[in-house]
Amino acid sequence: MNRPIRVAVTGPSGAIGYSILFRIAAGDLFGPNQPVELRLLSRDTDQSRLRLKGVMMELADCAFPLLADMSAHTDEKDLFDGAQCVFLIGAQPRKEGMDRADLLRANGEIFRRQGRALNERASRDARILVVGNPCNTNAFIAMRNAPDLAPECFSAMMRLDQNRATARLAEHLGLPVSGIEQVIVWGNHSNSMYPDIRFARYRGKRVDNQLDPQWQNEFIQNVATRGGQIIKARGASSAASAASAALDHMRDWILGSEGRCCTMAVPSDGSYGIPRGLMFGFPCFCPGEGRYQIISNMPLTPEVKAHIDKNRDELLKEAQAVSDLIF
Ligand code: LMR
Repeated sequence: MNRPIRVAVTGPSGAIGYSILFRIAAGDLFGPNQPVELRLLSRDTDQSRLRLKGVMMELADCAFPLLADMSAHTDEKDLFDGAQCVFLIGAQPRKEGMDRADLLRANGEIFRRQGRALNERASRDARILVVGNPCNTNAFIAMRNAPDLAPECFSAMMRLDQNRATARLAEHLGLPVSGIEQVIVWGNHSNSMYPDIRFARYRGKRVDNQLDPQWQNEFIQNVATRGGQIIKARGASSAASAASAALDHMRDWILGSEGRCCTMAVPSDGSYGIPRGLMFGFPCFCPGEGRYQIISNMPLTPEVKAHIDKNRDELLKEAQAVSDLIF
């Protein structure tokens, strides 16, 4: 058996955390031969400690063969000590009537602190995924507060948007979701995101010629506002689907995407005119071993470029609004 991979999770007792932990421990992230060690953050209150204790009791009761160890931490530096894989999930969630950007100040301080703690204690090749919203800017804040870690250690989750777009497209075409590839979502995990299906393929064949423009416009709106639709329907923000997307993102990043293109919000390398370092959703390939490459040569139409620029401007504005939290 391999040595356990140390996985740190913030927000483990929240709805997304509760959903992701059992899947990580069951082997859904690293496969059936890789043990894991879970390090879980608790707030420093009796209620939070008790709640996490309950989650850990359940994890123990699953008798997962791959769960080598687990521990609870109230100190973020302890939590991240030697962590190789990090899910930053804990944050104030969006409620009905709020935009993701409304969470900027509420959550920014958390990510500044966690960036500093990661900088001090995480493994130098940690792979850190920010799920808590507004995730692009939270990841930007964490990255900028961790100057001793390579910027490529950080990413933010737009895989949920890619999965949503893929599912909507499959429904519309009456095709199974499994054969659909090359669905991209550009930009910010906000209502401005731009789902791009110009290059979508089903089993290698292009599908864009089967789509009418009216449907495409509705599709773009539908994907961009899906999070809000779920809050309205469920009375709470998406949880299991977010956890599933976080696993998809991390698995592809660490183990490789097997030639598939996947959307990741990562620090820009200047591609498509996005300022370097801005945490932007790009089409990427993951060759394995925790690496990714931004696909920097997708052709853009003026319309797509305008959407990309809109997302760029929005993220620059968000970065400006939290400039006091940035190192
Ligand atoms: C989602 O897209 O479902 C999440 O980001 C939650 C939200 O606030 O929309």
